[in-house]
Amino acid sequence: MGQRATQRAGEPTRPAWTAGLTAAGAVRRRYHRRVIRQIDRVDLDVFLRHAELHAKESGNGTTIRFGLREPSAPFERDRIRQLLDNGLAAGVGSPGWCRVWVDEGPSEMRGHVGLRAHAQAESRHRALVSVGVLEPYRRQGVAAALLNAAILWARSEEALTWLDSEVFGHNEPALRLHQTVGFTEVARLTDMFRIAGEKVDDVRLTLKLRDE
Ligand SMILES: CC(C)(COP(=O)(O)OP(=O)(O)OC[C@H]1O[C@@H](n2cnc3c(N)ncnc32)[C@H](O)[C@@H]1OP(=O)(O)O)[C@@H](O)C(=O)NCCC(=O)NCCS
Repeated sequence: MGQRATQRAGEPTRPAWTAGLTAAGAVRRRYHRRVIRQIDRVDLDVFLRHAELHAKESGNGTTIRFGLREPSAPFERDRIRQLLDNGLAAGVGSPGWCRVWVDEGPSEMRGHVGLRAHAQAESRHRALVSVGVLEPYRRQGVAAALLNAAILWARSEEALTWLDSEVFGHNEPALRLHQTVGFTEVARLTDMFRIAGEKVDDVRLTLKLRDE
């Protein structure tokens, strides 16, 4: 972990465009140079590398445990690839559909947001959100920019009326992030999970995309 962070920290052998800028100025410039785009099926190899790095952060380093998957469990690359491959090709609102946005840095993907179908066809007017930013790139507005791009896209999709998110009650960064971009906490299932002997709440957040 430490080694990976060091390698990435070294990544901005500050590019030429930052010459003469203060540290704060360089950070501001990074905001303008952000490249956010939806991925396609041809991007899956690169995206899965990012997703695996991110999955391994759960409960490690400074990252709060954010998923039910055991941190030591293997990353299910083939299963996830299949889901993404099918989901990206599926029409919005049809079973298993998904779309993914990434923030593309000069050397690697920094973060992602996914929207995907609920399991029940009766909830086809709603989409589930997932979001993650690799540790070295946090607190630079990456997740907020990704979520805002996905929300903008979702508002233009007639098939969708709501976005939903499920976040552990102890995951303050994720709860605040969702509130920042307009989600509202609508339910909190106290003691929904027992993880490593701890009681964990399941917080449900929603964002309404349009009035019908
Ligand atoms: C949650 C997460 C996606 C935030 O990514 P990020 O790029 O650092 O977030 P941003 O920089 O866009 O922050 C936007 C806002 O979210 C809130 N926020 C983000 N990180 C926070 C933190 N550590 N503590 C408190 N608030 C935080 C703040 O309100 C922030 O606005 P501000 O920086 O102007 O105060 C990131 O911490 C992460 O990947 N965590 C692990 C995965 C995860 O928990 N996913 C969500 C559950 S499925």
